[in-house]
Amino acid sequence: MGKLPTPGPDRTAVVTGASSGIGEQFARELVRRGYGVSLVARSADKLRRLADELRATGVHAEVVPADLADRAARAALPGRIAELGRTVDILINNAGLSTLGPVHRADVTAELNLVEIDIAAVVDLCSRVLPGMVDRGRGAVLNVASTAGYQPLPGQAAYSAAKAFVLSYTQSLAGELRGTGVTATVLCPGPVATNFADTAGFTPSEAETALPRILWQDADVVARAGIDGLDQGRMVVIPGALNRISAGVAWLAPRRVLVPVVARQHPGMRRER
Ligand SMILES: NC(=O)c1ccc[n+]([C@@H]2O[C@H](COP(=O)([O-])OP(=O)(O)OC[C@H]3O[C@@H](n4cnc5c(N)ncnc54)[C@H](OP(=O)(O)O)[C@@H]3O)[C@@H](O)[C@H]2O)c1
Repeated sequence: MGKLPTPGPDRTAVVTGASSGIGEQFARELVRRGYGVSLVARSADKLRRLADELRATGVHAEVVPADLADRAARAALPGRIAELGRTVDILINNAGLSTLGPVHRADVTAELNLVEIDIAAVVDLCSRVLPGMVDRGRGAVLNVASTAGYQPLPGQAAYSAAKAFVLSYTQSLAGELRGTGVTATVLCPGPVATNFADTAGFTPSEAETALPRILWQDADVVARAGIDGLDQGRMVVIPGALNRISAGVAWLAPRRVLVPVVARQHPGMRRER
């Protein structure tokens, strides 16, 4: 039997960043497995269109628009979901973004926005939702990191550090939650074709050539691997054998060798010369 709580009309799976990319595919995969979903992102129209489509399958799908960079909006989220009559059984902290280029040329506001969404929102929602899950003895949390969390990444310094945070944080959560009936899993995808690269500021050709084609995966495959891992109670999921190998190599590579090589090759660094 899987580790995921059984679905029910008064229970919900919260997916942040559900308006596009991997998050949209998480919502689709959960609904396919019979779970009702609560969709969080800023783009309310996109969420509404997705929810309308998902609801046609017979499970609940509701829209909870929120800007996760806004602390007050994050604090209000659990209450808004409770008002809908739902208990959070599954939490997927998927919303995320990267900046691009060296920190000495960065826009401070954009860097801090990354920290709010990629780090603070994960800590905030886990801290607000886990107490109820542990009290009920049931629940599953999936935090989305990246293979970028396995190495320093000159040109995306805040992003790789944020994902290293999410990786470490979630592994600690998994340890803390042992025996409670609640699980924590961290998903570390390699490159996935979504809006992510464009939002970060990569040109299409930079995005295509930054990492070998063979490492790229589709968003639906990555989302399915994440939910499978959550259902199996896995602590870490890296979809794709080649991504597992490349993350392992990056983890073990001596930093004095790896850091200058990445700094020379990263598109965000090359454009600044
Ligand atoms: N694509 C990749 O290559 C890749 C690789 C490894 C890990 N990841 C991780 O996978 C996750 C999903 O990324 P993706 O590739 O699916 O990118 P995406 O298509 O750009 O999706 C990002 C999602 O985050 C949401 N978001 C951004 N800022 C937000 C805010 N202030 N408040 C609420 N929601 C916000 C966006 O919704 P709105 O704009 O509507 O708010 C969108 O739904 C991220 O954590 C990313 O770091 C991606």
